[in-house]
Amino acid sequence: MEVIIRPTAEHASRLTAQIIHDAVRANPDIVLGLATGRSMLRVYAALVELGAGEGADYARVHTFNLDEYIGLAPDDPRSYHHYMNEHFFRHLNIDLAHTHIPDGTAEDFVAESSKYETSITDCGGIDLQVLGIGASGHIGFNEPLSAMRSRTREKALTPQTIEQNSQYFGGAEHVPKRAITMGVGTILDARRCVLLATGARKASIIAKAVEGPVTSMISATALQLHAKCTVIVDEDAAAELEQQDYYHWLFENEPEWEAYRNTPGL
Ligand code: F6R
Repeated sequence: MEVIIRPTAEHASRLTAQIIHDAVRANPDIVLGLATGRSMLRVYAALVELGAGEGADYARVHTFNLDEYIGLAPDDPRSYHHYMNEHFFRHLNIDLAHTHIPDGTAEDFVAESSKYETSITDCGGIDLQVLGIGASGHIGFNEPLSAMRSRTREKALTPQTIEQNSQYFGGAEHVPKRAITMGVGTILDARRCVLLATGARKASIIAKAVEGPVTSMISATALQLHAKCTVIVDEDAAAELEQQDYYHWLFENEPEWEAYRNTPGL
């Protein structure tokens, strides 16, 4: 795992977007794993901007989203299907037939989950998985005690997550209580992971996820076991990390980051 600290949420989001954009340009057949939520809004806006300006071609890109609420139809404005179309897919030349999001209205979630896993395998696996982190430490909707080897499945949301997302539903009582989500094991199978967290409210969970012991109580700690995972945070989200000086030093000195540290705005 490596940690990159950028001055603001805008810098951190733009850096995340630039990594995705560069990956698409390097491999037009890339399979992307995608996330939703507040943190990703800036990333998708930046990707759309980059796509228009520097012409990344998404025609052959395949995408797999992490999760969907159970009970929400794709055209429900609160669904992650709607979010992805609204903020990302409709702005780029993505072939919608290449986009995959778990079906929150499936009749049989065991069958839907297994179909989702098979689709990922049939596409050759996920090359780059983008992640956010919830206050509960979840990645996808892998709430505390999700097995490190879990696969796509139906999962109950914690009261903390329901509270976190209540603003989109007009109150916690209207938030779906269950979701279908890729598992921790599904996420760990991606060839590369990039997790973005911004804002002071993420500081405590980021410190636990990055510098704490690996535990299924905090699913994001599983990323410490991943061979190539980059955690990108702004200074607010980095505030409780003990090794901030080291992470700054790495960004300034690692050859991999040279092009990025010399790009204004990242
Ligand atoms: C969303 C997802 C979640 C979010 C997390 C952070 O597809 O998988 O894990 O990434 O809940 O959400 P925000 O960015 O809204 O704080």
